[in-house]
Amino acid sequence: MTTSKEIATFWSQLLNTCAAVFDAAPQAMGSLVATSIRRLPKLEEPLARRLSNFEMNLLRNRLIGPNLRQFSTNSPAIRSQILENLASNSQFLATVPKVRQPPRRSIELPLEPALQAIKNHPIRPSLDALLPFLPWVFKGASTEGDMLNRAWVELVGSDGVQASGDFRLGLYWQDARVYYPRHRHNADELYYVLAGEAGWLGATGELIMRPPGSYISYTSRQDHATRTYQHPLLALWAWHGDISWASYSVDRAE
Ligand SMILES: [Fe+2]
Repeated sequence: MTTSKEIATFWSQLLNTCAAVFDAAPQAMGSLVATSIRRLPKLEEPLARRLSNFEMNLLRNRLIGPNLRQFSTNSPAIRSQILENLASNSQFLATVPKVRQPPRRSIELPLEPALQAIKNHPIRPSLDALLPFLPWVFKGASTEGDMLNRAWVELVGSDGVQASGDFRLGLYWQDARVYYPRHRHNADELYYVLAGEAGWLGATGELIMRPPGSYISYTSRQDHATRTYQHPLLALWAWHGDISWASYSVDRAE
């Protein structure tokens, strides 16, 4: 059984690893994001030592639900309980996620090839521990339908597991041989590629191949698009500035 304290400790590790990744970004936005992560309530010190039992239980309930000793996405009862928990409110955690589809679980995603590719990355221990519980939003490449070839989870943000009105931070997965068409939004965005060389739209309008370890930065309203080839992509992403979803638009596949 995963205890509240274990979950809180891994959560703290995960966000601190993200902060370290963005600290190392060559773009100024990287240090801005890293600072924002570190300014999150309760993250100045290891989270588990700062959180009250009540808050640790809230975090655990938020991620895996109360009294759930084993997790299975095959159970409709457990799934509805998870959704109820995701909708629960507290000062520490975000309010009801305003996503257009209900969140689903990592177990429903074919993440293994991408995870294999980052088996030695410092993010792995905390990611492995929390992966079964993360609420992913699945998307098709250019549809609102049920195609499960792209997904993201918002770790921190207005709709995140942990609340922040200043920035969004999450994981993004895109299956091999998928095109995420041109899109834009008001927020500045910075990606960090954990796994999977992919083509990223550059300022010249051409796709540029960027390997794992790359940072890709987009300014407010700049068109961007991503095409994967033989490898699935797994990346960290962060939004800064105007982080509302209202300004987001995406083109149809070209
Ligand atoms: Fe974006």
